[in-house]
Amino acid sequence: MGKNILLLLGGMSLPIFLIACHARPVPSEASSPSHIPSARSTSSAGPAYKDSRLPVAERVEDLLARMTLEEKIGQMTLVERGSILLEDIAAQGIGGLLSGGGSSPPVNSPENWAAMVNQFQEYALRSRLGIPLLYGADAVHGHGNVYGAVVFPHNIGLGAARDPDLVERIGRATAEEMAATGIYWNYAPVVAVPQDIRWGRTYEGFGEDTELVSALGSAYIRGLQDGGRARLPGAAIAVLATPKHYVGDGGTAWGTSKTYNMRPFLIDQGDVQVDEATLRTVHLSPYVEAVRAGAMSVMASLSSWRGQKMHAHRYLLTDVLKGELGFPGFVVSDWEGIVPISKDYDTAVVTAINAGIDMVMVPYDYKTFIGTLKRAVERGDVPLERIDDAVRRILTAKFLVGLFERPYAELSLLPSVGSAEHRQLAREAVRKSLVLLKDDGVLPLAKDTPLIFVAGQGADDIGMQCGGWTIEWQGRSGNIIPGTTILEAVRRTAAGSVVHYDRWGKFETILDPSGRPAIADVGIAVVGEQPYAEGLGDQADLSLSPEDVAVLDRLRARCRKMVVILLSGRPLIVTGQMEHWDAFVAAWLPGSEGQGVADVLFGDYPFTGKLPYTWPRRMEQLPFDFAHLPASGPDAPLFPFGYGLEK
Ligand code: BGC
Repeated sequence: MGKNILLLLGGMSLPIFLIACHARPVPSEASSPSHIPSARSTSSAGPAYKDSRLPVAERVEDLLARMTLEEKIGQMTLVERGSILLEDIAAQGIGGLLSGGGSSPPVNSPENWAAMVNQFQEYALRSRLGIPLLYGADAVHGHGNVYGAVVFPHNIGLGAARDPDLVERIGRATAEEMAATGIYWNYAPVVAVPQDIRWGRTYEGFGEDTELVSALGSAYIRGLQDGGRARLPGAAIAVLATPKHYVGDGGTAWGTSKTYNMRPFLIDQGDVQVDEATLRTVHLSPYVEAVRAGAMSVMASLSSWRGQKMHAHRYLLTDVLKGELGFPGFVVSDWEGIVPISKDYDTAVVTAINAGIDMVMVPYDYKTFIGTLKRAVERGDVPLERIDDAVRRILTAKFLVGLFERPYAELSLLPSVGSAEHRQLAREAVRKSLVLLKDDGVLPLAKDTPLIFVAGQGADDIGMQCGGWTIEWQGRSGNIIPGTTILEAVRRTAAGSVVHYDRWGKFETILDPSGRPAIADVGIAVVGEQPYAEGLGDQADLSLSPEDVAVLDRLRARCRKMVVILLSGRPLIVTGQMEHWDAFVAAWLPGSEGQGVADVLFGDYPFTGKLPYTWPRRMEQLPFDFAHLPASGPDAPLFPFGYGLEK
């Protein structure tokens, strides 16, 4: 089920510093646009904004000067593709369309995505000034909405891998797969610094540590925007990155969320209650690096800071981000993000735009938004200079991407979607993301281990390996995309072994030569969390499920050595269980390339991953008071941040 449908069903009316040296040069402020590199091409006479030989700033000013108020407001409007009437794209001069999670063409294939986006673009180019659309999607772990795309580990796994170069390469590969479908705008990376793993978006963050997030977030931005083969020659940016959610999304307090979507959210979109110094050191720093890395769009957070909605926060959006940090790009609202500002929609629109939101992810009723903003400008409630500033920022980003020169999908890149090369890269990422938390000498496994039993809900489930934001907003368990499950990988790798699989761990019918139920040399259990996304993953109790515990008990009785692999978007409570396991591997949400798990399990590569989050011993320890964490004793975490055996 697509996200829109889910949201509608919910009846919701609201719904620094490892690397900075090779950042792509960008202007340090929007008011010095002559530093913005221009895209080269051979286009000829006509209005200056269509001349790709001119500097971007000149093209922007030329275009802006030709635009009516309606056309400017159209550029500030971002609509979900399922809500747009094709004729309105040109008639209203819509600036952007998006696919919410799971909003795919009826038959989900890369070719159909490209055709769908191209059709929207064709309508946009029919507008009076022919301004191309920016089409956006959440390619947060690869182009995961698209059937056949490579799905990389979620950021939590990349945080464990701690390899900025790897993250940069993933950004580049993602850009190629996106450009193939005409989507030049990615709502990624999440640069939240999650402080409470009960949050349903913990896995979208690289980790609880600001420096780690800053380093990997900026690496991702560099890779995505560089884009490898996806970048139009001469253009500054291949695919626009969107660090999100500005700012403090990972710092909300448990119980402060006011959002209801199918059920009440518990922490997602809640209130951040820390002082400004903490907000800056913990949560703002990744944006400093993101701006340095060349980010040209930033998404505002649905959360609040000390009771004030981020979407209405002029000080943080305008004074800090655009002023102090010199962010030259545009701020996009999150999904219906301006609605909760006020019960009165007029007030919400005026407050948000004046606070510094440049483009509004409406995402449904764009006509009401457009009409409301127009009246507000005419009344003088929103100054025209604010509108011009917003549109200037949006157009600058469009020119930097080279959209006027290449508005359509880069079809020559279609073979890169799900390519063997990208799968190899994802497999490398999986290998590096595994964190070995316990090993009593059982690992690595021999490829000719005589008898192996594999059990657990995650063993043969690619959807569970991928987690949320895969094909659908919430993700879905089962055989939802091409790739390799952990079971398939084990079978392929342990070619000299007999491998039996039962999801429930029931192996009584496998008999030894004497006719008694066999005992395997090794049991591999793959357990963990079913897919979820956003506040629907907020969870007060992170214990292993009763089903998992039952499977682990059954398998334990049927094997000599037991290896447990956890598929989860965060640490789960394993205290009391783990003593029965011979080895324990946190595999996070590895994505489509389960082969990477077997590569390491069977010793072709070493375990190198380190914990990106502190691992609790029991729920009562959460949220951690990181400043006062005991290193040992009953109140110490089960494993500290950065823990991971190397083997
Ligand atoms: C999420 C964003 C996402 C947007 C568009 C929102 O619900 O908070 O992270 O980019 O939807 O799908």
